[in-house]
Amino acid sequence: MDTFTLSNGVTLPAIGFGVFQSSPAETAEAVETALRVGYRHVDTAAAYGNEREVGEGLRASGVDRADVVVETKIWATDYGYDETLHAFDKATGKLGLEQLDVLILHQVAANLFDRTIASYEALERLLADGRVRAIGVSNFPIHRLEQLMDATEVVPHLNQVELHPYHSQPALQAFHREHGILTQAWSPIGGITFYPGPWGDRRSVMDDETLQAIAAEHSVTPAQVMLRWHVQQGRQAIPKSTNPERIAQNLDVDGFALTDAQLASIDALDTGSPSGPEPEREFTPEMLRPIPEA
Ligand code: A2P
Repeated sequence: MDTFTLSNGVTLPAIGFGVFQSSPAETAEAVETALRVGYRHVDTAAAYGNEREVGEGLRASGVDRADVVVETKIWATDYGYDETLHAFDKATGKLGLEQLDVLILHQVAANLFDRTIASYEALERLLADGRVRAIGVSNFPIHRLEQLMDATEVVPHLNQVELHPYHSQPALQAFHREHGILTQAWSPIGGITFYPGPWGDRRSVMDDETLQAIAAEHSVTPAQVMLRWHVQQGRQAIPKSTNPERIAQNLDVDGFALTDAQLASIDALDTGSPSGPEPEREFTPEMLRPIPEA
């Protein structure tokens, strides 16, 4: 499996395993299955409510802890310096781990941006203390990355953003390349189009004719084409599945290569619009729900 190396030398497998919208009941089994078939990176979040089950799946898999990259995210309720240090204790307590591999801020809290910065300073402290191996952010647009980088010392090692063929964010990707920030793609196969949220019914990327035609040429699925597109263009992808066959399928993308013309035709599918929530939001009191103690 290909790997990507962060600016501080930490390496991540090119494909990680996602658990957004995996219910706590499904998560432990999905993580155990994923690790058994060869994934070595699991991405969760305090706000997903399934960190404890990620830890259970990790232990049940029998895979050595040191061989697995565990990533989680701080929710805005816990933004602020001391709050984020405490959120680290909550996350490690639920996961049953001493150290985290990657710890990131989940979201720009537009109305709490000073607290967002203070939180990032707490991540820098945890990094300096060796309690996390890499730090970063999620859902940060360029102007917010610039503000963060002006105010803090460590350039984020990665930014996890919505990125699939219908929303490929070329300007943000170029900014990441310029500053040595790894692009980590959430909803990398467009699963956000299945999100039963206020955005209504969306066309599924998996039904796209261009992707289906490329998939047929390589005798693979549209999901595998999209994952190969990410890896060949230097992005880490973290697809979510709770289905054992699809979990295995999504890791099996090393046996073919897309041509430059195929990559370009997938790039051309970009709509310029997100399918998921706008990355930068005001946090309402109801979004600031408490994150439970470990
Ligand atoms: P399931 O968990 O039943 O497999 P994304 O990570 O881009 O958000 O996509 C996740 C969504 O896509 C989930 O609904 C997941 O459902 C589905 N999915 C995951 N892998 C595949 C695949 N290889 N083919 C089709 N659907 C998939």
